[in-house]
Amino acid sequence: MGRWPNFVQLKEVGPRDGLQNEKRQVSTEDKVRFINMLSDSGVKEIEYSSFVHPKWVPQLSDAYEVGKRIKRNPQVRYSALVPNQKGLELALEAGIDAASVFMSASETHNKKNINKTIADTFPVLRGVISEAKNANKHVTGYVSTVFDCPYEGNISPSQVIYVCDTLLEAGVDDISLGDTIGTAVPSQVEQLLEEILKRYPKEKIIMHYHDTRGMAIANIMTSMKYGITRFDSSVGGLGGCPYAPGAAGNVATNDVLYLMHGMGIKTGIQERKIQQSAFYMQEKLGKALPSKSLTYYAAQE
Ligand code: HMG
Ligand code: MG
Repeated sequence: MGRWPNFVQLKEVGPRDGLQNEKRQVSTEDKVRFINMLSDSGVKEIEYSSFVHPKWVPQLSDAYEVGKRIKRNPQVRYSALVPNQKGLELALEAGIDAASVFMSASETHNKKNINKTIADTFPVLRGVISEAKNANKHVTGYVSTVFDCPYEGNISPSQVIYVCDTLLEAGVDDISLGDTIGTAVPSQVEQLLEEILKRYPKEKIIMHYHDTRGMAIANIMTSMKYGITRFDSSVGGLGGCPYAPGAAGNVATNDVLYLMHGMGIKTGIQERKIQQSAFYMQEKLGKALPSKSLTYYAAQE
C-alpha cells in the first residue's frame, strides 16, 4: 500500500445520479443553470443526464434539451448514461464527449434496473460500446452492486470480475465500480481491490460510493491506499438509485473536496463554487442536502 496521491480526479454526477432520485422535478432551465455553474468550478468531467426510458426515470426525461442547452466548457468532458442503442443515438445528437454504459454485477438488480438478465445485457452493451467508440467517444462502464445487492446480499469479487472482463473486452476505456446501496466498509473495499488490481491497471478504475451509512469517506481513504485516484461524487450528496430501495445519494463532492484539500491533495476544483451550486440546488429542491461540510459552511455564512 502506498502514500497518499498528489492529485485526485473527481467526476461530478449530481446532475444525473443526484437528480434521478429527487422527488421534486427540477425544471430544464434550472438544470442547465446548475450544470453551467458546475462547468465553471474546475471539475473536469460532468455526467449531465441520462438517456434512459423517460417512464423509468421521469426526472431526467429532458436529457436531450439539457444536452442541447448547456454551455460547454472545452476543459470539461460531458458524459451521459446510455442503456442501449436508442439512448446512444439521442445522446450523440444532444452532444456527449463520453458515454456511460451501465449494468449490475447482481442478476436481480440488473433485471430490476434495466429489465434484462446479465447475459442478455452484454450483446446490447457491446453494440453501444462499439458504436460510441466508432464515434470517437470515451466510454465508461459502470458496474453496480459490486459489494452488496439489495435483493441478493453479498456479491463475490469473482462475479464483479466476470462483468468487468466482459465490458473491458467489449472496449470500455475504464470501469466505475458502484457501491450502489452504500453498504460497504473498508475491509470489503480491500477485499475487492486486492482482486481487481491483480487484473487491471489502477488508472482504469473509478470508485463510485453512495453514502447511505456514512462510510463513503472511509472507503475513499481505503481506495487511495490502493492507488485509486478517480472517484465519482455528487454536489451536496444529492440523489440515489431509483431501483435500489433505501439507497442514499453519492458521497458529497463538498465533503470529498474538504478531505482532499485538507490533506494537500489537489483536485483542480474550487470548493466555494461547489458550495454555491449546492446552495442553488437546495433552493430548487426546497430541502437541505446531506453534505456535512455544506451544513457547516452554511452556518458560517
Ligand atoms: P425496456 O422496456 O426493456 O425496453 O427497458 P425495450 O428495449 O423493450 O423497449 C420498450 C420501449 O421503450 C420501446 O418503445 C423503445 O423504443 C423504448 P415502444 O416501441 O414500446 O414505443 N425505449 C426507449 N425510449 C427512450 N430512451 C431509451 C429507450 N430504450 C427503449 N433509451 C431500458 C429497458 C434499459 C430502456 C429501461 O429499463 C430503462 O430505461 N432503465 C433505466 C433504469 C435507470 O436509469 N436506473 C438508474 C440508473 S443506474 C444507477 O443509478 C447506478 C449507477 O449510478 C452506478 C451505481 O450507483 O452503482 C450508474
Ligand atoms: Mg450511483
